[in-house]
Amino acid sequence: MTVVTDVADMQALARRRVPKMFYDYADTGSWTQSTYRENEAALQRQKLRQRVACNIDNRSVKTTMIGQDVTMPVALAPVGLTGMQRADGEILAAQAAEEFGVPFTLSTMSVCSIEDVAENTKNPFWFQLYVMRDRGFSENLMQRATAAGCSALVLTLDLQVLGQRHKDLKNGLSTPPKPKPHVLLDLAFKPRWCWHMLQTKRRQFGNIHGHVSGVGDMTSLAEWTNSQFDPTLDWSSVEWVKSHWKRKLILKGINDVEDAKIAADVGADAIVVSNHGGRQLDGALASYEVLQDIVDAVGDKIEVHFDSGIRSGQDVFKAVAMGAKSTYIGRAFIYGLGAMGKEGVSKVLQMMHKELDVTMGLCGETDIKKVGRHNLVL
Ligand code: FNR
Repeated sequence: MTVVTDVADMQALARRRVPKMFYDYADTGSWTQSTYRENEAALQRQKLRQRVACNIDNRSVKTTMIGQDVTMPVALAPVGLTGMQRADGEILAAQAAEEFGVPFTLSTMSVCSIEDVAENTKNPFWFQLYVMRDRGFSENLMQRATAAGCSALVLTLDLQVLGQRHKDLKNGLSTPPKPKPHVLLDLAFKPRWCWHMLQTKRRQFGNIHGHVSGVGDMTSLAEWTNSQFDPTLDWSSVEWVKSHWKRKLILKGINDVEDAKIAADVGADAIVVSNHGGRQLDGALASYEVLQDIVDAVGDKIEVHFDSGIRSGQDVFKAVAMGAKSTYIGRAFIYGLGAMGKEGVSKVLQMMHKELDVTMGLCGETDIKKVGRHNLVL
C-alpha cells in the first residue's frame, strides 16, 4: 500500500490510475509549458521568515471568502472534464469540499451537470461561467445555476481562445474522445478507472451537451472551444453578466495590474489572480510574481484571490502572506481525485490544512488573518 504524504505522491498515483488521455489533460501547460513550470517555481523561490519562541498554541487557519466562512483559505478551482479523472468526479469533489468546509466551483465544461451536483450536495456551491458566442445559452446556464442555488458565479476571462496543449492533440482529445492507439492500449492498464466509468451514465459534458451546436462532431476540443467561446468578450460583457447574475461575482484570470484596476471598478466581489495554471498564455508571468503588485494596486478595493501553482499548504501560506485573501487549487485536488476518488480529494485537503497550520506556527503566527508580508523574506 502506497503511503501518500504530499500532493506529489497523489500525482504519481494518479498517473498510474488515470488513463493517459485524461491524466495528460491535467498535467500540461500550453506550448512550451514555461509558464506552467514557472508558476510552481515562483512559489518555491519565495522564502519564509522562521520565528521562534512565540507561543503558537491555539492556531486557526479559518477565514472567509466573499463573506463565506471557510475552514482554510483554499477553494476547489473549476476544472473541465473532472468527471473523466474519476467517474462522477464533480460530485465526489463537491462532496469532499463540502465535508471539509471549503467552496467547490463547478466548471461550465464539467461532466456532471449543475443539477447532478446540486442533487448530490447539501450546501450551495459556486458555478464557473465561460461566455459563449451564443449569449442565450450563457444566460440559460446562469438561470440553471441560480435555480440550483449556486451562491457565486466565477466568470473566467482568460479563455476567449484556447492556448494549444500539445499533449491533447497527440492523444486525440476531442468531443467525443477519438483516442489514438497508444491511448487505447493504455486503458488496458487502468482497469479500476474503466470499472468505475462503467458504473455511471455521466460520460459527456453535462452542462452543454445538446445545447451548443457541434458537441459530438468536432475533431478536437481546441477547435470546438474556439468555435463556441466568445472572442468578442470585453468589459461590457461583464456588465452583461451582471445584469443576469444577482448573487456574488468573482472575476477569474487576472494576471496584469492594469486589468486588475479595471476589474476592481466593475463592481465584482473578488478577483482571482490566475494564468489558468499555465494553460493559456505561455510566456505569461507566473501568477505569484504579479500578486504583490496587484494586491498593492487594488487590495483595498476588492478581495484578491490567487491560483496557479499551489501544491502545498506552504504555497497557500505564501500567497496569503503576500496579500491574497484566499487561494484555489486545481491540479492538486484533481490528482487526489484521480488517485483515490473522493477520499483522495479529502486527503489532499487534510494534507494542505496540516501543512498550512504547521507552517503558520513555524513562522510564529497563530491566526491566518494576521499573516502578512512580515512573514516573507522580501
Ligand atoms: C483548468 N482550469 C479551468 N478554469 C476555468 O475557469 N474553467 C475550466 O473549465 C478550467 N478547466 C481546467 C482544466 C484543467 C485540467 C486544469 C488543470 C485547469 C484552470 C483552473 O481553474 C485553475 O486556474 C488552475 O488549475 C490553477 O492552477 P493549478 O492549481 O492547477 O496549478
